[in-house]
Amino acid sequence: VYKEIFQNELPMPPTKEKKYTYYNSTTNSYIDYYEIEIKAFEQQVYKGAGFKPAKLVGYDGISPGPTFRMEKGREAVVRFVNHAEKDISVHLHGSYSRAPFDGWAEDVTKKNQYKDYYYPNRQAARTLWYHDHAVHHTAENAYFGQAGFYILHDPEEDALQLPAGSYDLPLALAAKQYNSDGTLFDPASETVSLYGDVIHVNGQPWPYKNVEPRKYRLRFLDTSISRAFKLNFEDSKGKTVPFNVIASDAGLLTKPVPSNNLEISMAERWEVVIDFSAYKGQNITLKNARDVQADEDFNSTDKVMRFVVGTTVSSQAGNGDLPAKLRDVPFPPSKTGVDRHFKFERTNGEWKVNGVTFSDINNRILAKPPRGAIEIWELENGGGGWSHPVHIHLIDFQIISRTGGRSVLNYEKEALKDVVLLGTSETVRVIARYAPWDGVYMFHCHNLIHEDHDMMAAFNVTSLAD
Ligand code: C2O
Ligand code: CU
Repeated sequence: VYKEIFQNELPMPPTKEKKYTYYNSTTNSYIDYYEIEIKAFEQQVYKGAGFKPAKLVGYDGISPGPTFRMEKGREAVVRFVNHAEKDISVHLHGSYSRAPFDGWAEDVTKKNQYKDYYYPNRQAARTLWYHDHAVHHTAENAYFGQAGFYILHDPEEDALQLPAGSYDLPLALAAKQYNSDGTLFDPASETVSLYGDVIHVNGQPWPYKNVEPRKYRLRFLDTSISRAFKLNFEDSKGKTVPFNVIASDAGLLTKPVPSNNLEISMAERWEVVIDFSAYKGQNITLKNARDVQADEDFNSTDKVMRFVVGTTVSSQAGNGDLPAKLRDVPFPPSKTGVDRHFKFERTNGEWKVNGVTFSDINNRILAKPPRGAIEIWELENGGGGWSHPVHIHLIDFQIISRTGGRSVLNYEKEALKDVVLLGTSETVRVIARYAPWDGVYMFHCHNLIHEDHDMMAAFNVTSLAD
């Protein structure tokens, strides 16, 4: 098969194995213990004379890092040992971790030190990811490799018999840029955005994947520091292949939502089920639209990866019709009005939230929601030609409106989320319950260049009234 740009097979990060299990006789519960080492490694991306390997730093020396596969109800402690040169902080994105284990940007672990992070694993099944969050160095650290999947399973989702095992593929997208000697371009001095001209999936530029002619679950995650995608699948005649969106940042949607394309910005997770059964012996190419938001396009940024469909199916497990209903999504009770307004804006060359930067330590706590409060936050893109994917730690929110450009997307309507894209002049309202814990948590733009240049603030969930 002539594979065009799709020359190398899609890598699959290995599953992370626990080291021990502790039994707590007081609570009659088990806690699994894991250890991750953050260390340097090399990847020869460009082959041939004169090309050097890219020098990367990753969890256990790979990128994406190993995939955690966790069961709801089983707590975990993960020790992150820093063998890299730079400071690190680890955020488990999508977990309602207690504040000391949430990867607060200034809570850094220095070289040759470690920190033990406690993860409750009490949320419903969902795709999370762990990535660096060190103050002012998140973009470089994530871009040079510190990102990985953390997948939470539960019995309710398992009972739906969705495609599983080798038919369930986590796909981490990333756009990067290389120097002419084959090393990775360092985004450390970028102050606006680094869109990247090379599209990677699971660390491999433009891979291919051999698949069977049946249904697959694809868990998309955009780990790019600045690039958003609008994906679609094309058959060999250039015809669009439809699919169903089944899950978001916070797990299953209410029901499968049919779609021809998928908009995914930085840190978002969207999962789809696609059926390759009508495409025996054909290629299905995953494409990216041109002109997504204000992102810069390059020659091959319209291509992502290729699925090479075989002719035989080795298992029919999880290959049945999708259930009409997936679950009762725990949407917050509805209310009216706007409790808080936040403007994400660049002024005088600085990235700010309501005029404040994360460096402004006396003013950066912008909200004190009482614990348990249901609040509507209005998130406004202050303009200038940039989009901002806004991430609120701790909570899951429902997107209730979007104005100034797109409206709420069909699959967004059925979802709980922890990141939402504010397109170049959009304003979005989100509703959430500020719970379950007290504590100071971050919220920020997930264009990591903007985040590192302080488009980040905090909120303090408190049991006292504001
Ligand atoms: Cu995915 Cu505050 O980050
Ligand atoms: Cu931004």
